[in-house]
Amino acid sequence: MKKMWAGRTSGKTDQIADDFNSSIRFDQRMYLEDIAGSIAHAKMLAKQGIIPEEASGKIIAGLEGILADLNSGKLEIDPAAEDIHMFIEETLTDRIGQDGKMLHTARSRNDQVALDIRLYMREENGQIKQLLKDLVAALCDQAEKYKASLMPGYTHLQRAQPVTFGHQLMAYAYMFMRDLDRLGQMEERMNYSPIGSCALAGTTYPIDRVYEAELLGFKAPVANSLDGVSDRDHVVEDLSDLALVMMHLSRLSEELILWSSWEFHFVRLADAYTTGSSIMPQKKNPDMAELARGKTGRVYGDLMAILTTLKGLPLAYNKDMQEDKEALFDAIDNVELCL
Ligand code: ARG
Repeated sequence: MKKMWAGRTSGKTDQIADDFNSSIRFDQRMYLEDIAGSIAHAKMLAKQGIIPEEASGKIIAGLEGILADLNSGKLEIDPAAEDIHMFIEETLTDRIGQDGKMLHTARSRNDQVALDIRLYMREENGQIKQLLKDLVAALCDQAEKYKASLMPGYTHLQRAQPVTFGHQLMAYAYMFMRDLDRLGQMEERMNYSPIGSCALAGTTYPIDRVYEAELLGFKAPVANSLDGVSDRDHVVEDLSDLALVMMHLSRLSEELILWSSWEFHFVRLADAYTTGSSIMPQKKNPDMAELARGKTGRVYGDLMAILTTLKGLPLAYNKDMQEDKEALFDAIDNVELCL
C-alpha cells in the first residue's frame, strides 16, 4: 500500500526500515486518547465551517465505532501500521470512505502525538495520585496504631535516640504527600493544548484552538507552535517526579528489608507478601520490597534516557522524539505496580 506521506518519495520503503520506523507496538496504548483528540478536532473543523457538518458527523460516528470495537476486541490493531494515529485514520477511511480523510485537515501527526501524550499522562497521573493517596492513608493508619510503640531511631545506621514506630512511618507519609503535590504541579504546567500547532508553524485554516483546548479539558492552547510540537519537558518533569516516588519507595523498602531480618527483628511481613525457600526453611524473603528497590534503578534510567534524547534536538519535531514514549510508559507502569 502507498504510504499516506508519500510525496517527494515513492513511499516504497524496505521492510526493515518500516519495522524500524514503526511505533505501533508501544503507542497503541494511546488509542483512546487519539480518538478523543480526533473527535474534538472534527467538531472544531465543522464549527469553523472548514469541513461540512455532515462529514464531521460521519467522522465522529466512525471514530466512536472504532473505539467501541477496539474496546470489545472486535477490531484488532494491525501490527503492520506505522503508528496508532495512522492506524485509526486508515481504519476510519476504510469504514466511512473519503470523508475520513477530511479529519486530518489543519493537523499533523506532530501536534497529534504531542496531544495524545498529554492526554495519556493526565489519565495515568490521576491513577498514580490515587495510589499515592491510598499509600499515605495506609501509612497514617499504621502510624496511628503504633503511635506509642518505641523503637530505636538511627543515624549512621547506629542506634541514636528512641522514636516511635508511628513517627518513623509518618516520615514516609510526608515524603509521599510531597510527591503528590509535585505531580499536581506538573499536571498544571502540562495543562495546555498543543493541537493547532500542526507540523510546526500552525495553519492558515481559520481554526479555533481555544474551543478545541476547552473540549479536551485544557486550560488554554500553547502560545508557541514550535514549542507545542517539540517540547517534552512535561515528560521529563513527570519522570523526575516518578523517580522521586521510587526513591522514597526504595528507602521504605530498604527499611522493611532490614527491619524484617533476624538482625533487627522489628517487624514481621505478612506471608502474602513474602517468599520462602525449600532448602532453607527458616527463610522469609522480602521479595516485594526488594523488587520495589530494584525497579527504582530502571525508573532513574527512564529519566536519564529522555533527558539525553532531548538534549541535542534542534526545533521542532524530530523522529528521535518517538523515543519518549517507551521510557514514559515503562516508568508509569512500574511506579503503578510498586505503589
Ligand atoms: N509516531 C510518531 C511519534 O511518536 C508520530 C509523529 C510522526 N511525525 C512525523 N512527522 N513523522 O513521534
